[in-house]
Amino acid sequence: MNDTIELINVKKVIQSKEIIKDISFSVARGEVFGFLGPNGAGKTTVIRMLVNLIRPSEGTIRICGCDLKTDRKQAMNKIGAIIEQPELYGYMSGYSNLKHYANMNRNTITHERIMEIASIVNIEKSLKQKVKTYSLGMRQRLGLAQALLHKPDILILDEPTNGLDPNGIREFRKYIRHLAETYDMTIMISSHLLSEIELMCDRVGIIEHGKLIELKDLKAGAISSNQKFRMKISDSKLASELLNMKGYLHKKLDSHILELSTHEHIMPEIIQEFSAHHIKIYWVTPITATLEDHYFSTLSASEGM
Ligand SMILES: Nc1ncnc2c1ncn2[C@@H]1O[C@H](COP(=O)(O)OP(=O)(O)O)[C@@H](O)[C@H]1O
Ligand SMILES: [Mg+2]
Repeated sequence: MNDTIELINVKKVIQSKEIIKDISFSVARGEVFGFLGPNGAGKTTVIRMLVNLIRPSEGTIRICGCDLKTDRKQAMNKIGAIIEQPELYGYMSGYSNLKHYANMNRNTITHERIMEIASIVNIEKSLKQKVKTYSLGMRQRLGLAQALLHKPDILILDEPTNGLDPNGIREFRKYIRHLAETYDMTIMISSHLLSEIELMCDRVGIIEHGKLIELKDLKAGAISSNQKFRMKISDSKLASELLNMKGYLHKKLDSHILELSTHEHIMPEIIQEFSAHHIKIYWVTPITATLEDHYFSTLSASEGM
């Protein structure tokens, strides 16, 4: 059982409007999963179902193998979440906020655990300060500490970088990767901004009008397996003739630069062929289509559906 979040044919109807239309996907243990889509696409609605704030109209949700319908409590113990804004009290210190939250939700959280989690999110030096003096980034880390107090296996964050400045976003990204890698946590992050998701996540699901329209692997290798390569060589005219003979798709940019559209597995063969004909290769560089290109082409392709 490697999937920690599973949605199977999940639908949600609110006031006879189909907000979520038959969504299925799963997130593996240790994966950082991005949930990307424009405002109003249905991200928060899906997340509210995952944390049991609302029930699906149809379908099954499993958290670490526990069905939300039958093992709700067990499933909820596995999840820590921040939906929209974390609930923080400005007039209380960071420590009191964590203590208060721990008392409200679970009585088993010790002083040591609070200090441990504060150090993980790097807030321990400011714990005595009132939260109203915190920067947005500090508040957000305190929110993270709150969600992580009970050692969940899964962390779910709804638009967590909203309002953060570029520096704050960069720092936040670092924490997320650290949590996933150090504690083998499964992390799901929603966003309408693909630039954030792209750098933080292993995989992304794109949602639009309540439908999952794409699942895409972002890990190194996956995205580069079939793409473009640009190369600088001594004779692109001869190279182009060789490629034409073999039927490889390419473009000659000038007398030294070629652009090839192919699978990376084919590259060694092409390089050998060039060498056999005494074409010197100065460099080869992959040109990765960004997720941005992909996101917009996917969205525009599904327009009007
Ligand atoms: N309680 C509700 N009642 C009516 N409509 C809702 C409710 N919750 C969400 N919606 C609608 O469902 C759609 C998806 O909303 P939401 O899940 O908040 O999208 P996102 O988080 O992707 O911006 C929106 O059109 C929103 O207006
Ligand atoms: Mg939302």
